[in-house]
Amino acid sequence: MPRLSTWFIKASLIYLATGFTLGALMLANKGLRLDPAFWRLLPVHIELLLTGWIVQLAMGVAFWILPRFQSSRGDVRPAWAAFALLNGGLLLVAAGTLLGAPGWIALAGRLAEVAAVAAFALNAWPRVKPIGV
Ligand code: HEM
Repeated sequence: MPRLSTWFIKASLIYLATGFTLGALMLANKGLRLDPAFWRLLPVHIELLLTGWIVQLAMGVAFWILPRFQSSRGDVRPAWAAFALLNGGLLLVAAGTLLGAPGWIALAGRLAEVAAVAAFALNAWPRVKPIGV
């Protein structure tokens, strides 16, 4: 497995554990009615599990498994940039919504996430090809 895939997949597992923990806290709060403030975790729960876990795991496995050119995965710099942009953006969105920061912080995070997808596609697109081409 290439080094970048290990980073993507290990990060996705960390977000899975954290996202499930936040979900469990909200669920416990729902049953026990501890404090309404627990509901502030909901957007972070969604962000960590949909972007941090699902999207990131897909990127990590795709980078590893998509067809190669002989043994090369092409220019890997955009894929590394995608890792940095996705995680930086995700953390900005999560922290921004949790701390009630100004809206532009979450917006900047979302833009970084969109840029991560574009950067990832730069590496992945030419690798989507029939066998032997
Ligand atoms: C990959 C796994 C998961 C994903 C993608 C996910 C995603 C979501 C989403 C999108 C919502 C918002 C639903 C809505 O507003 O209608 C939500 C709500 C919630 N999730 Fe998760 N979730 C996951 C796993 C879990 C787990 C494992 C737990 C508990 C241990 C959990 C607990 C909750 C709770 C308590 C809510 C709030 C439900 C409510 O509005 O009453 N989630 N989740």
